[in-house]
Amino acid sequence: MIYRTHNLGELRKENIGQKVTLSGWVATKRDLGGLTFVDLRDREGITQIVFHTDVADVAVVETAQKLKTESVIRIEGEVRERFSKNMNIPTGEIEVFATSLTILNSCETLPFQMTDTGLNENTRLKYRYLDIRRPQMINNLKMRHKMIMAIRNYMDKAGFLDVDTPILTKSTPEGARDFLVPSRTNEGQFYALPQSPQLFKQLLMIAGIEKYFQIAKCFRDEDLRADRQPEFTQLDIEMSFVELEDVTRIIEGLAKTVFTAVTGEVADYEFPRMEYREAMERYGSDKPDTRFGVELKDLTDIAGKCGFKAFTSTVEAGGIVKAVVAPGVADTFSRKILSDYEEYVKRYFGAKGMAWIKVTAEGVNSPIAKFFSEEEMKAIIERTEAKVGDVIIIVADKPKVVYASLGAVRLRLGKELNLYNKDEFKFLWIVHFPMFEYDEEEGRYKAEHHPFTSIMAEDMDRFLAGEMDIRTNTYDLVLNGSEIGGGSIRIHNPQVQEKVFEKLGLSQEQAREKFGFFVDAFKYGAPPHGGLAFGIDRWLMVMLKENSIRDVIPFPKTNKGQCLMTEAPGFVEKEQLEELYLESTYEEKKDN
Ligand code: AMO
Repeated sequence: MIYRTHNLGELRKENIGQKVTLSGWVATKRDLGGLTFVDLRDREGITQIVFHTDVADVAVVETAQKLKTESVIRIEGEVRERFSKNMNIPTGEIEVFATSLTILNSCETLPFQMTDTGLNENTRLKYRYLDIRRPQMINNLKMRHKMIMAIRNYMDKAGFLDVDTPILTKSTPEGARDFLVPSRTNEGQFYALPQSPQLFKQLLMIAGIEKYFQIAKCFRDEDLRADRQPEFTQLDIEMSFVELEDVTRIIEGLAKTVFTAVTGEVADYEFPRMEYREAMERYGSDKPDTRFGVELKDLTDIAGKCGFKAFTSTVEAGGIVKAVVAPGVADTFSRKILSDYEEYVKRYFGAKGMAWIKVTAEGVNSPIAKFFSEEEMKAIIERTEAKVGDVIIIVADKPKVVYASLGAVRLRLGKELNLYNKDEFKFLWIVHFPMFEYDEEEGRYKAEHHPFTSIMAEDMDRFLAGEMDIRTNTYDLVLNGSEIGGGSIRIHNPQVQEKVFEKLGLSQEQAREKFGFFVDAFKYGAPPHGGLAFGIDRWLMVMLKENSIRDVIPFPKTNKGQCLMTEAPGFVEKEQLEELYLESTYEEKKDN
């Protein structure tokens, strides 16, 4: 049996008079007695089918009258000019008069209507196959396909080899928690799922592959957010004999090609570059959204000498005082709104408080105005460039807290006050991240990117002298305030690598135990190399202007890491655990 001669987005005026066979899902049905219209839908579009007793047997028309939406049917019929044309769809100038109808699968009552908007996400995820059937999701997956094809074509043309790397492997160094897989054949031992192919791709450079790429699944057991999944897909890239300039140039070409393939737009500019330090100081973020201003202004010198204890003691303790200006909201930002902002920075970013100053035609209005002399207030207004009608928002704290708080306030203002054009796309490189980051909770230094990141030549002497404030040959690609990719030029000198491990507090034995096989490889001819990885899902999400990464992943997990459709993760039989030398303490812990 022929199921179809055409897809449902295909028929045009030129096909009028032809006999066709079509199959698809019943999107809608309108029954006018003796005349039934069905919008038949497939991946490519919708075609209107007419069941009329002039053309079809009464039995066919009667069956059509009883059709349930989302049933799968097959019809045979003739293409005719459509009586009332619908120019909103490509097939809107024709309709097909059916002569036969076969119900291939009748649809039961649906858990939700396919046209419902604002559906509960959990319902969508439980019936993901129905959710994907909707044009919006199908379109997102078509875009994902386009993106991946554009990547493969570009990488192939640029001389990269697609090499795959294992999923059952050893712990990798990206710094999140690992997903572990117990080994049945190696008593008591575990594989880790790769957080990225980092070690393998560097080993491929030592192996002489020279230019590698892979569309790789990565697994990270971390707290999930709107732009993070426990299982996600990277475009992973590594190259030999390159420096930062080479990598960014090649990647920029790729990014532009993919951007055009997905959005249809052209990014015909050199992506601007910003030093990490500058990004933090100006935007309070290492992935600034530069579609709008509202930059951070430093008030540390002015605030350090004022009469406000909260500011002066912060400055004395080595902290900083910075401000952003909320434009034109002096009249509309009530005390309630401002205390909501304050609560936000306190709760999520650990700020101790948030001060504000309204600049009005009558002078300043602020709970902290009394602590400042007229000159000091004038200096603050000048420094922040606030105008009448603006509100100055100030946070004083450790630099990390100030940046995180004001960076977030800035983004919230941008969104709530519509300060940027949502249709605009802005790429930006952030370069030269610090090598080390101090983890206050653990009281030790960690690698900001990963421990294989090379150090800037300018900072090498200071590094060897034992300083920790060291910059690296790193680069992140940011699109509209999202980090869509990141990487670095790597260390290829075993002595420097050893020194980095040492500074991270890894003893020689620990480094050997963790990365011994890797460090050894560098003794046998390691070329200079570097690379980067894009988060394919996150990048696509930004380009499609979706709010959630789940809308561009076919079968995503919830924020709790569950797949609501398959109900993974699930419990397993005791025997299965025993075979793996495991015992679950869940029952005991649950009861306590
Ligand atoms: P990094 O950890 O920065 O670098 O990851 C690269 C990119 O992957 C995306 N990403 C994620 N996307 C969705 N869910 C997640 N949980 C998630 N975590 C990261 C981001 C990020 O920019 N091996 C290095 C790359 C290198 O050095 O070459 C790495 O994985 O878009």
